[in-house]
Amino acid sequence: MLGSPQLLFYVACFVLAESKVANVNRHEARKFPDGMLLGAATASYQVEGAWDEDGKSENIWDTLTHREPCVIAECHNGDVADNSYHLYKRDVEMMRELGLDFYRFSLSWSRILPTSFPDKINEKGVEYYNNLIDEMLKYNIQPMITLYHWDLPQKLQDMGGWTNPHIVDWFTDYSRIAFELFGDRVKYWFTINEPKEVCYQGYGSASMAPLFTMSGYADYICTKNLLVAHAKVYHMYNNEFRPAQGGTIGIVLSMSFYEPESEEHAEAAEDLTQFEWGIYANPIFSKTGDFPQVMKEKVAAKSKAQGFPRSRLPEFTPEEIELVKGSSDFLAINHYTTTLVYRNESVFGYHASPSYYDDIDVISYKDSSWEGAASSWLKVIPWGFYKLLTKIREDYDNPTIFITENGFSTRQGLVDDDRVSYYRQYLDVMLDAIEDGSDIRVYTAWSLMDNFEWLQGYTERFGLYEVDYESPDRTRTPRKAAYVYKEIIRSRKLDFHYEPDMSLPLTIDEEH
Ligand code: NOJ
Repeated sequence: MLGSPQLLFYVACFVLAESKVANVNRHEARKFPDGMLLGAATASYQVEGAWDEDGKSENIWDTLTHREPCVIAECHNGDVADNSYHLYKRDVEMMRELGLDFYRFSLSWSRILPTSFPDKINEKGVEYYNNLIDEMLKYNIQPMITLYHWDLPQKLQDMGGWTNPHIVDWFTDYSRIAFELFGDRVKYWFTINEPKEVCYQGYGSASMAPLFTMSGYADYICTKNLLVAHAKVYHMYNNEFRPAQGGTIGIVLSMSFYEPESEEHAEAAEDLTQFEWGIYANPIFSKTGDFPQVMKEKVAAKSKAQGFPRSRLPEFTPEEIELVKGSSDFLAINHYTTTLVYRNESVFGYHASPSYYDDIDVISYKDSSWEGAASSWLKVIPWGFYKLLTKIREDYDNPTIFITENGFSTRQGLVDDDRVSYYRQYLDVMLDAIEDGSDIRVYTAWSLMDNFEWLQGYTERFGLYEVDYESPDRTRTPRKAAYVYKEIIRSRKLDFHYEPDMSLPLTIDEEH
């Protein structure tokens, strides 16, 4: 016979196991924690348009889309985009329809500082952001600003962009102006959106402007400069602005989950993780700081074998390590998907050398059975999000987390059941992670509306609202996901059974 403490223990284990099963097939409404903020995001080049209006100068996406129009799907560009520069009032109206707590958007550096530098501030550009911020605040929608979401002034690119160490000063000067202009009203700041994409895709491969394909070299130099620039801005805000403005500031990392194909490939998956986002997370969020050890060793060894006099991965000075360590109030994560990883004999010599991928020596892929979105890279793997959140909690001592992007792409169409299902599944596992102890305070849907999806132009749509690019006023219409997200925000609950009536308009509730 079992004594009662033992019996209790077994009963408790059984209940726990059952509740995990229930989580998987959960069908009762699930509450969000009190105080959790729910919002949506966009970025300047992707929505603003007005590419040469009112004194704005060219950025690297203007240059790329005009110089080589058809590197973008269907030769699209962001000249008009969603025309948010002129339609910001409609954008805020949509935020009110959804009942958003906040809206995350980015500033166009070349709209505010047409020379790239603070010698000339473009009043018209400033006015646009003031109007947008004030309109949001009128309805109690918190502005969250990303200082850099990929649209570098072209002049700075001509001087090497993120590979020129002077970018540290350029970015600090620009950020100071932004804090001075908007920091009285804006309390959430993000320095840089997705450094990995900025450096690896912009400087290591031809998938983001400026299409500078110097993998395994320019991408690493970009990374080092970017981290130092970020940290300088963090400390500037902390020392000079936070005392009076009282806001919070951090960096936004894109973090996929890397799953080993089988247990024997665990090291390969971990190596890829460290190369893909450990390179940014380790210097800022680990106790030791600096680039991940495995990266330093692998790149140094490869560089030596290739005849380089020093590692292609630049070194931080001890002062820089200290400067970067801890330079973020929270870890902001953009998460979309999961990738499988393995390493076997076939990998050696598989990638061009020298290159970032050759330095890692792994092969990664998506399982062909995985359900996909319109974007080929985006597969629906909610368990990967759960594992990622667990890993972050364990590896970085449970940092405060903001989910600054999560979403799903479709083609055109208003009945987006696959997007609804994606959001529900990802929110569900996020709530699981919170129950496990993750400190997640913010969740952001990407995106408020369809927008310019970089090299994919307008062919891949991430919007809660569909945008009609044929209409001169870029008509925005709520998709089913907008109705569902609105109900999630209103009720502060995730209810898998909720079915909206899309024949009714999405109207603004009283309190908004
Ligand atoms: C991350 C980027 O920040 C955003 O600009 C992009 O549109 C989404 N991912 C979707 O790819």
